[in-house]
Amino acid sequence: MAEPAPRQLHLGYMYWLNGTHWGGWRLPQAATPDAFTLDYPSKVLRIIEDAKFDFFFLGDTLPGDVYREHYGTTHNGGRLEPFTLASQLALQSSKIGLAVTAHPTFYEPFTLARLTASLDHLSGGRLAWNVVLGANDLAARNFSLPDLGGESRYRRAAESIQVIRRLWDSIEDGAYLQDKETGQYLDPTKIHRLEHQGEFFSVAGTLPMRRPPQGHVPLLYAGASELSRELTARYCDINFTGPSRLEDSAAFNADIRERARRLRGKDEPIFFLPGITPVIEDTREGAVHLFDRLNDGLPVDADPVEGDQTEDYYASEGFRALVTQRGPLPLGARSLRSIGERIGVDLRPVGLDGVVTPELAAGFGESGRRLLSLIKERTDRTVEAGTVRGKDLLHNSIGGGFPLVIGTPSDVASTLVEWFDKDAADGFNIQSPFMLDQLELFTSQVVPILQDKGVFRTDYEADTFRGHFGLPVPPNQFAEEVSR
Ligand SMILES: Cc1cc2nc3c(=O)[nH]c(=O)nc-3n(C[C@H](O)[C@H](O)[C@H](O)COP(=O)(O)O)c2cc1C
Repeated sequence: MAEPAPRQLHLGYMYWLNGTHWGGWRLPQAATPDAFTLDYPSKVLRIIEDAKFDFFFLGDTLPGDVYREHYGTTHNGGRLEPFTLASQLALQSSKIGLAVTAHPTFYEPFTLARLTASLDHLSGGRLAWNVVLGANDLAARNFSLPDLGGESRYRRAAESIQVIRRLWDSIEDGAYLQDKETGQYLDPTKIHRLEHQGEFFSVAGTLPMRRPPQGHVPLLYAGASELSRELTARYCDINFTGPSRLEDSAAFNADIRERARRLRGKDEPIFFLPGITPVIEDTREGAVHLFDRLNDGLPVDADPVEGDQTEDYYASEGFRALVTQRGPLPLGARSLRSIGERIGVDLRPVGLDGVVTPELAAGFGESGRRLLSLIKERTDRTVEAGTVRGKDLLHNSIGGGFPLVIGTPSDVASTLVEWFDKDAADGFNIQSPFMLDQLELFTSQVVPILQDKGVFRTDYEADTFRGHFGLPVPPNQFAEEVSR
């Protein structure tokens, strides 16, 4: 009997115009593309389809304030609308999946059902929808809304998904008879009206389109709160939340799988593809050096030691909330002064190039100790060895993007395989710290190692998004109701 095929790892590529490291675009070798032409994303598409990636991922947040938010990621400085871009990318590719991000708060379900079904048809079943609920309330004001809706946006998303799935199902396969003899164009028994009345939406009709090739376009989601866990467990096929530690990720995945069994009443596969940004060089030292150069390009406060805000600002509740939260720090909180507030020790006397002494580090609170262990993992620098500098604390606490793996192609491949083997991941949503060299290093040097290990395909075996994951086309809900 033939050996069962080894479990295969899945790779998505998260396309961020300038990569995910906030200082990456400033390196001399980084591409500075025109965000508003097709040339550049086509180039990226070609590279990753040649490398047999599962999908090209178009993330999307609508910034409330383009100028302020571009200091976080240049991705928020402006880019093309994802459905429009994906429709062009579909024409330029034949196998790779296309994951498009859309916020259900900003669309009527009928519009979203129509956009996604059209693109699934035009791409031959290669579309997935990344359901997001993020960005800030200021973004909502572009859509005649005062805010994102707080907790109600999770209920709105759930209702939206249910309505959209019924809309996708509303014209069954085989409904288009186009029978010239009888004059029957459509089979009325295969066409269904929704008559949906819910908390957020009322939708009466039929989506004027045959069911998409994948039946239901697969859904992606990221988010770790209780409400996010329930949403993803109930509806989603792929999750890419990506807790940064292996053990946390394995526990997160097990929790979602358990919830999914309970909420769906059956065992359906959910794939976990944490986001990860490999920083790749020929040697570990070279990769750490590259990481330092990336960090030197980070936008920090005009006075990165003393800070450049007023005393009132540093005394405010808002500042306190900022430095105690774990998320990325905005400008105005990117100085040794601000980081010191977070850690509980005044770091200003250290300066950017001074060394953190064991005496000083002994006063660090929990967030400071966490930061030191992150710095050690990323760079091998330790307080004991006298190699942690003030700027290491500053740069590594600004945050943003996804977990980093810093090292040689073989280091990166080993980390990915370790996560995969220990059920912390079924694959990865790969990003690059800057474009395009780092992407090409990943596809030319890391992917072949994964292929040699037998965990990643050397050629496509399917040509739909579901096909790449072995996900079956779900039954049509209306057809099931009729046959009951
Ligand atoms: C890894 C990751 C990527 C995300 N990408 C986006 C995005 O592209 N656009 C967006 O509006 N929100 C994005 N979000 C936010 C989520 O859609 C969601 O609003 C958030 O994770 C909810 O978090 P919570 O329920 O855990 O508090 C992302 C979240 C995570 C964790």
